[in-house]
Amino acid sequence: MRMYDIIMKKRNGGELSEQEIRFFIEGYTRGEIPDYQVSALMMAVYFQKMTEAETLALTMAMAESGDMLDLSGIKGIKVDKHSTGGVGDKTSLALAPMVAACGIPVAKMSGRGLGHTGGTIDKLESFSGFTTALTRENFIENVNRVGIAIMGQTGDLAPADKKLYALRDVTATVDNLSLIASSIMSKKLAAGADAIVLDVKTGSGAFMKREEDARALAEEMVKIGKNAGRKTVAVISDMDQPLGYAVGNALEVKEAIDTLRGRGPADFVELCLTLGSRMLMAGGRCADVSRARQMLENVIADGSACRKLAEFVEAQGGDAGMVSHPELLPKAPIVCPVPAPADGYVSRILCDEVGVCSLLLGGGRETKESVIDLSVGLVLCKKVGDPVKKGEPLAFLHAGDASKAQEAVRRYLGACMISDAPPAGTPFIKAVIE
Ligand code: URA
Repeated sequence: MRMYDIIMKKRNGGELSEQEIRFFIEGYTRGEIPDYQVSALMMAVYFQKMTEAETLALTMAMAESGDMLDLSGIKGIKVDKHSTGGVGDKTSLALAPMVAACGIPVAKMSGRGLGHTGGTIDKLESFSGFTTALTRENFIENVNRVGIAIMGQTGDLAPADKKLYALRDVTATVDNLSLIASSIMSKKLAAGADAIVLDVKTGSGAFMKREEDARALAEEMVKIGKNAGRKTVAVISDMDQPLGYAVGNALEVKEAIDTLRGRGPADFVELCLTLGSRMLMAGGRCADVSRARQMLENVIADGSACRKLAEFVEAQGGDAGMVSHPELLPKAPIVCPVPAPADGYVSRILCDEVGVCSLLLGGGRETKESVIDLSVGLVLCKKVGDPVKKGEPLAFLHAGDASKAQEAVRRYLGACMISDAPPAGTPFIKAVIE
């Protein structure tokens, strides 16, 4: 088999066989096929697209290019959740304890963030002492004992995807549905869960800006999951404004704790209940959505979800006292308001721009090497549709230094639109795709 023939076949609109796809993924992972040939193939895929069979073969070849995590030592059906990412997305922090308190084991591999705020691991490191450097044995043991364990992603999980994604990033070949769906699903399949619940975001703060693109991606990933023999459900949720009110690592942890104490923002609670109910159903805990939502509401009301978070933090070396005393979480020295420039209604919040504010304050990474400040970020006071009076705070910025705070204030004012009339509402959960 020759890489040249594979490139030409795809360039001319042909369908690659499973053997051809495995040949190029295995050769590329071993460093035997050069970047320039794989770039050419990616560009051919970009224009000619991939069939369902090709997309599945690509996903499986990438998933099997490194370690496939064996979670058979964990009792019960393992359900993983994946979000395509957004601003203020702290979902795993509240959702994992909620579903674990309902008896679903959570064995999660998470990453650090690149961009507006940290990833789940960065956020969890707001608890002093917390570590995700677990051995595989500790990881399995913790899930069986506590119900949750979160581990940093190992380098050997889907290494083909790692190489290919980095190449696509610099060759303008990221935004192809089959390539995005296979990239995400290869990592999920390698991470070993029996069932997968996907949170696909749409809007100005999401990877997929348009709802129809988010829907197409969700459908593609659900198809891959089913074809790979894993029960897969996707929820399409709004990311046209930040999720909840808090954006920034420790600030998001505090909002997740508030949510577990029954005082969460409406949109965030709705997302946790929607995703959580699908996780309980996929994990065989109950057969219908309303019963599942009731179970999740109960573990918030009786305090068991919040206790589960404390247990999990302690099991991974963190200070569990911070769960009952969130005022001990890292705090920024400067807190300043962003005053509204006029009376009216908040009609739009450019979500990407809010992410940039958090980045400017030091809450996110510009490069993989950046050190992030866990204490900084923003807490919104007004969300889309809220009435506002001139001079009232639109948000509070939590900053480490005054010049960064001033720059972020200017940026936030540019991101938050005020109009005379309230905007038309749109549903927060757009669809559930099974
Ligand atoms: N996220 C991924 O993991 N892969 C892609 O291709 C795009 C987004």
